Amino acid sequence: MQKKVKKIGVLTSGGDSPGMNAAIRAVVRTCSFYDIESVGIYRGYQGLIEGDFVALNARSVRHIISRGGTILKSARSQEFRTVEGRKRAYDQLIKAEIDALVLIGGDGTFTGGVLFQKEFNFPVMGVPGTIDNDIFGTNFTIGYDTALNTVVNAIDKIRDTATSHNRLFFVEVMGRDSGFIALNSGIGAGAEDILIPEENIGIDVLLKSLKRSKKAGKTSSIIVVSEGDKTGENVFELAKYIDENLPEYETKVSVLGHMQRGGSPSCFDRVMASRMAIKAVESLKDGSKGFMIGIQNNKMTLVPLEKAIKGDHAINEELLRMSDILTI
Ligand code: F6P
Repeated sequence: MQKKVKKIGVLTSGGDSPGMNAAIRAVVRTCSFYDIESVGIYRGYQGLIEGDFVALNARSVRHIISRGGTILKSARSQEFRTVEGRKRAYDQLIKAEIDALVLIGGDGTFTGGVLFQKEFNFPVMGVPGTIDNDIFGTNFTIGYDTALNTVVNAIDKIRDTATSHNRLFFVEVMGRDSGFIALNSGIGAGAEDILIPEENIGIDVLLKSLKRSKKAGKTSSIIVVSEGDKTGENVFELAKYIDENLPEYETKVSVLGHMQRGGSPSCFDRVMASRMAIKAVESLKDGSKGFMIGIQNNKMTLVPLEKAIKGDHAINEELLRMSDILTI
């Protein structure tokens, strides 16, 4: 018979994302609701290895739903990649009498979780928290919607100055190897071209397209470039090439960077994070383990953690087509 879950640990790991606090809050309050103790683990897997724990209750997570970042802090632990590190983590959990873990993070977090559960048969449940939206088995990850809005706001501002000076701007956005942020924010902000890792259009096609839009009467342009895109060496090299071959424009580069990860989460992220976290605790309580909570067609789903890491979260072809139509 499965052991009754009496104490749940929660951690955030990898790149932080807006809405992680909403998820922590919902984990803690759902635990309280079901009379389960909850423990916060600081600095992700590194804090787990070091036993950096704090007892949490419904009141300790007050007023955090609106805050960006993560009150539990986050880290990318090298030590947890080793068997010895994971054994130390397991010993800490046994010592603290923790029966199960909620892991809030992205694919690195889940990769660690899969290994850990396999080696120690310790129940884990994943909640997808990353601005990149690059996780298989869920339409959305926590923080993605907020990051999109942050990027669109930033591009709107860049647009004002680009138009005033008749300039061509390359705006680099995050997303690691995936183009979700670039594609969606690019469409939302009316970018003239969008470069993503999933589709290498080639530098000359880009140049042609920019020449065409110049001919069509455009006086300024915004090109959104995903950080993982391989059209040029990097965004600065790309801009240099276009600058040299399209002298009609003055070319500028703006790298948005980590501001995309900060800020108060959108209502969408807060609600989704809460739904996912409640489902995570309830699933552990009911004896499930080794899953990630996903959202598909607005329904909560349990996706095997291994699939969430290995599956390919394909880019929406319809959005690519839309972008071609809208940038005429
Ligand atoms: O995974 C989230 C993310 O922000 C990526 O978009 C980006 O490539 C990476 O993290 C940056 O990581 P770090 O903050 O460790 O530099």
